This record gives sequence, C-alpha cells and structure tokens, in this order.
Amino acid sequence: MLNMKLVKSPRQMRRIGDELRQTGKKIGFVPTMGYLHDGHLSLIRSSASECDVTVVSIYVNPLQFGPGEDLQRYPRDLKRDLKLAAAAGADVVFAPSDKQMYPERMLSFIEVEKLPDYLCGVRRPGHFRGVTTVVGKLFNIVGPDRAYFGNKDYQQARVISRMVNDLNFPLKIRLLPTIREADGLAMSSRNAYLNEEERRQARVLIESLRLARRLIREGTRNSEKIKKVMGQLITTRKSAKIDYIQISDPLTLEPKTKVVGDVLVALAVFIGKTRLIDNLIVKGN
Ligand code: PAF
Repeated sequence: MLNMKLVKSPRQMRRIGDELRQTGKKIGFVPTMGYLHDGHLSLIRSSASECDVTVVSIYVNPLQFGPGEDLQRYPRDLKRDLKLAAAAGADVVFAPSDKQMYPERMLSFIEVEKLPDYLCGVRRPGHFRGVTTVVGKLFNIVGPDRAYFGNKDYQQARVISRMVNDLNFPLKIRLLPTIREADGLAMSSRNAYLNEEERRQARVLIESLRLARRLIREGTRNSEKIKKVMGQLITTRKSAKIDYIQISDPLTLEPKTKVVGDVLVALAVFIGKTRLIDNLIVKGN
C-alpha cells in the first residue's frame, strides 16, 4: 500500500486506533520484532484480508531478552521492513523507540503462571514475562480487534492467549501455521545468523520432528524413546547442540511420558551459536 503510515509515538498510535474504532473499523494487529520474513508477511496478509486496517508493530523488546542473549545483535532493518510490510498489505507500522516504550523504569509487569514453567521458559527465565508485558502494552496502545501470531512460537501463543482470556483483553487471537523454507526449516529472523553450512545443518530440526511424527503414527507411545531417537538424529549434525526436546500436552504444556491424544513435540537446538526452535502438533490416536 502506497500510503502506509509510519508511527513512532505511542500517543499518536493510540489516537489513530481511537479514530479507527470510532468509525467502526476492525483493526488487525501483527506484533513483530522486525527483520520481516515470509512468516510475518503471511500474518500481515491474513490480517489484511480479514480486517479493515492492519497495524504491524516493529519493536525489539529488551524486556524479553536475558543477560548474554542476542538483544544487541538481533537483526534490524526498518527501511526494508517498511517496504515488505506495505507490499503485504499493512496500513500502519508502529515502530517506537525504547524511550517511547519504557520512558521510566518499569514497576508493573504482566506475568502468566505455569505455562512458562516448561519448554523455552525453563531455559529463558523472565522471557515470557517480558513478552506478555510488552504485548499487553502494545494491545493497550493499538487497541486491536484481532492479533495474529505464528505457530512456530507455540508456547508464546499459548501464554498470550491465556493472558488475553484471564485479563479480558477485548480481542481475538488468531494463531496461524508455521511458514517454512523449501527444505522445511521454520522461518525465523534468527536464521539470518546462520552461515551456509549451519543453514544446511539447521534442517535437522524439522527432520527430527517429522521422525517423531512418523514414530507416533507407527504406534510408538513412549515419549523417552521418541526423544532419544530424535536426539540421535540431531547429534549426527556437527554444529547441533540440543537445548531441549519435549513431548507435551498442547494446552497445559506439561510433559507427557506417554503419547495419548494430541501432543506437542517441541525442541530448541543450538546450530553453532544460534538457538532455533520448532514444533509440530501430532495426533496420537
Ligand atoms: O514473537 C515476537 O516477535 C515477539 O516475541 C513479540 C510477540 C513481537 C513480542 O515482542
């Protein structure tokens, strides 16, 4: 869209949202940390097709990065993102600075209990508190009717959905499928960190998930056994180091020792220094 608006101040964003709501426009919202890829663009396209106005936020939120994580080197390219967002159908890009989002030291946070006790939450203490706090702020600033998230960050989507239900945020969460490269690697801004050889080895995430799905379909029910076989495959790749492999209940995220009904098979693997995540929901029986 040629006349896409770039908004930096939360107050101006709030005013635009208020005006849109007063004229009965349905606002779709795609929160991102930028460095947009096809996964983000598919969320923007879905919002543009379902809503009157699509707002995309681009903000690398320091609150969700732990010490020693990649906050400083997280890829950023606003100029490129603006072009991609406009072409995908965004009407407004909200790209605030740290000072605008956090003008003073935060004393208030949103924290969902239990769901962050598993999977990435164990490895990244405080991460989901940072996510829910910024997403809650963004929801208050933009005031969307619908917000769009990708399945790749499955735990994040569960945590945010729970926050929206528990705290009566007046919007619907739309959770859309993971968008993958031709070889199956889940799209992620962090894929940009991989060199050529690492990029080849990164395929092992989806290969191991598909292997788990095949084992389950063939009747294997013992989670430890499935995780072991996945681990054996992953460690055949020189640059791969397993952070976790988990088979969990898709709603509560609690680990399951036996595959009964649908399960979430999720993993985080370091490829070189880059931590990648992926998951599949597999139908048990
Ligand atoms: O998924 C992301 O990019 C981020 O966690 C989000 C939801 C934009 C919050 O900073």
